[in-house]
Amino acid sequence: MLMKICVLAGDGIGTEIMEQAQKVLSVVADKYNHELELSYGAIGGHAIDTEGVPLPQKTVDSCRGVDAILLGAVGGPKWDNIEKSIRPERGLLGIRKEFDLFANLRPAILYPELKNASLLRPDIVEKGIDLLVVRELTSGIYFGEPKGEEVRNGKRVAFNTMIYSEDEVRRVAKIAFDTARKRRSKVCSVDKANVLDVSQLWREVVLEVAKDYPDVELTHLYVDNAAMQLVRDPSQFDVIVTSNLFGDILSDEAAVITGSLGMLPSASMGLENPALYEPIHGSAPDIAGKDLANPLATILSVAMMLRHTFALNDEAQAIEDAVKRVLAKGFRTGDIMSPGMEQVGCTEMGGLVVRELS
Ligand code: IPM
Ligand code: MG
Repeated sequence: MLMKICVLAGDGIGTEIMEQAQKVLSVVADKYNHELELSYGAIGGHAIDTEGVPLPQKTVDSCRGVDAILLGAVGGPKWDNIEKSIRPERGLLGIRKEFDLFANLRPAILYPELKNASLLRPDIVEKGIDLLVVRELTSGIYFGEPKGEEVRNGKRVAFNTMIYSEDEVRRVAKIAFDTARKRRSKVCSVDKANVLDVSQLWREVVLEVAKDYPDVELTHLYVDNAAMQLVRDPSQFDVIVTSNLFGDILSDEAAVITGSLGMLPSASMGLENPALYEPIHGSAPDIAGKDLANPLATILSVAMMLRHTFALNDEAQAIEDAVKRVLAKGFRTGDIMSPGMEQVGCTEMGGLVVRELS
C-alpha cells in the first residue's frame, strides 16, 4: 500500500520524538511491504520563526493531498509574549479548523507495567483504566463568535461565546456511538445542562442520536461531577463524549491519572479530509534537545494512524506489542521511571521499539 503522510514536527521535543516515530514507521513499512511518501511542513513556533505565521499556507497545501498528518507538538516560552493572533497554538487550532477535524479521540489507558506511575490509590487502579474521550474539536467556545475585548463604561471586558449547532453535536455524537460499538458499548455524555443553554441543546441532540443506537448504553454527567468521577472511579467509563473546552480539560485529567501522559496518542478526524495524529502531551520545552523525551506516545500515534486511516490492523498491533515488550523488559524514559527499572533516553527508546519489531 502507498501511504502518503505529511509530517509536522513542530516545537520543543517535537523534533526528537518525531525522529523516533519515523524510524518505527519506516521499519514497519519495510517489513510489511508498504511504500511511504513523506512530506514535511512547518507549524507552531518553528513556523513563526521561519515564515512569520504559525500555520503557513505552504503547510496547509502539503497536507491537502495526503492520507494522514503526523504532528509532534507546538509552543514554548520563546513565543509566550508574541501577539496573540500568531501564537504557536493558533497553528494547531488552524489546522484542525482548516481540515474540519471535528472529532478528537483521546484514549486513556493504564498500562499494567506502569501502574506504579499512576497517581491514584492502588485499590482504584486495580480496577483498570481503559477509556476514550471523544472531544468536539472545531466549534464551541474555542471558535464561537462574538469574541474579543473592548471597553465598556471605561472598563475593559473580554468575552467568548460557547455555541453549538445541532449538526455539530450530532456528527460528533455519532462518532462516539460508532466507536463505543467497537469497545464496551457505553457512552457517557458530559455537559453542564443544569446551567448552560448550549449544554441543554447538546443533551437533547445526543438523546436523539442515541435512538439509532439502542444497543449502546447512554448516561449523562455534569462536567463537575465527571471531573470528580474520573479520579474516584475511572473504571466506570468507556467512551466519554463532550464539547471542546470540557474535553480539553477532562482529557488531560484522564491522561494524567494513568501515570503515562508520555504514552498516550490521539487522533483528530473529520469526514473526508486526512486525519491528524499526535501525542497528547505538549512540547515540553524544559527537556527539549536533551534526549530525555518519551517517544512512545508519538510511536503509538503511528499505530493509531495505521489502524484508523490505513486499516492496517496487524501493523498497528505489531507496534503496540513491541512497545509493551520494551516496557515489560524494564526500559523506561524519565517520565515513567520507577525504582528497579532501566532509564533510557529518547533515541534509545525508539531504537528498542525498532529492535522488537525487526
Ligand atoms: C490540546 C491543547 C490545545 C487545546 C492547545 C495547545 C491549543 O491543550 O490539544 O488539548 O487547547 O486544544
Ligand atoms: Mg489540552
